[in-house]
Amino acid sequence: MSQILINNVQKVFTTPGGPVVAMKDIQLTIQPGEFVCLLGPSGCGKSTLLNAVAGFQPPSAGEITIEGKKILSPGPDRGMVFQEYALFPWMTVAQNIAFGLEVQKKSRSDIAQTVNQLLDLLHLKDFRDRYPKDLSGGMRQRVAIARVLALDSPIMLMDEPFGALDALTRRNLQDELLRIWEKLGKTILFVTHSIEESIYLADRIVVMTYRPGTVKRDQIVDMPRPRDPSSAAFNALKRELGALVMEEQQRHANAEMKLAAVD
Ligand SMILES: Nc1ncnc2c1ncn2[C@@H]1O[C@H](COP(=O)(O)OP(=O)(O)OP(=O)(O)O)[C@@H](O)[C@H]1O
Ligand SMILES: [Mg+2]
Repeated sequence: MSQILINNVQKVFTTPGGPVVAMKDIQLTIQPGEFVCLLGPSGCGKSTLLNAVAGFQPPSAGEITIEGKKILSPGPDRGMVFQEYALFPWMTVAQNIAFGLEVQKKSRSDIAQTVNQLLDLLHLKDFRDRYPKDLSGGMRQRVAIARVLALDSPIMLMDEPFGALDALTRRNLQDELLRIWEKLGKTILFVTHSIEESIYLADRIVVMTYRPGTVKRDQIVDMPRPRDPSSAAFNALKRELGALVMEEQQRHANAEMKLAAVD
């Protein structure tokens, strides 16, 4: 049975300028343990779809179910990692990771054990007593991932989590994420506008159209990992998806020019 079922989902925002259809006719099924990337240019509704799966913003029409249950609000089966490091600045690394477990009123010893395991898993042991301001962007994002892993949700939702990182740190965290995903068997729904990142990571890439966001291509990535971005197969897919994304980017640019002309 599929784990996440997105059934004919649509989202319309009401704005002073009239209704904005952010996404429509989205039909997707995601299997347990699958790594799926949502790919598309800015404004194509990637975050809108992810937020709907997270339960932050329900769709205007259609429904999303997880394990057969309709999503109405956030839940412990889904953890979210954002682009900006959503850490508490007044807490140390270890305290940040422990926070969710304390809210859940886990025992002191359970919390200590989980925190130590995650510090280990994400190579954060030497940083456990540091505050977020004293960490690099990549380290902060490791803590953000550890914080979500602490809650042990089977589904991880990630909205451009590595978008603000330099290229080397980004590759490093992509490798870490793949290692964790393989080890823990999570389902990952990962938003990116980087074509290379999506091919490097995903089992499946869902390319979205510019507003209204619909599914333009549902592409299986059938390449063994670790993937070599310089290989012929990688580059062939990169060119193919690049052309699709470029079409949508162009539609975006045209739409903006029309708006500017009205202004
Ligand atoms: N709360 C809102 N009110 C009105 N319009 C919104 C709202 N949230 C999103 N939109 C519009 O819906 C569309 C999709 O937005 P969304 O943030 O999902 O895009 P995105 O693909 O995540 O873009 P980016 O890559 O820039 O993050 C955009 O045109 C945006 O302006
Ligand atoms: Mg977004």
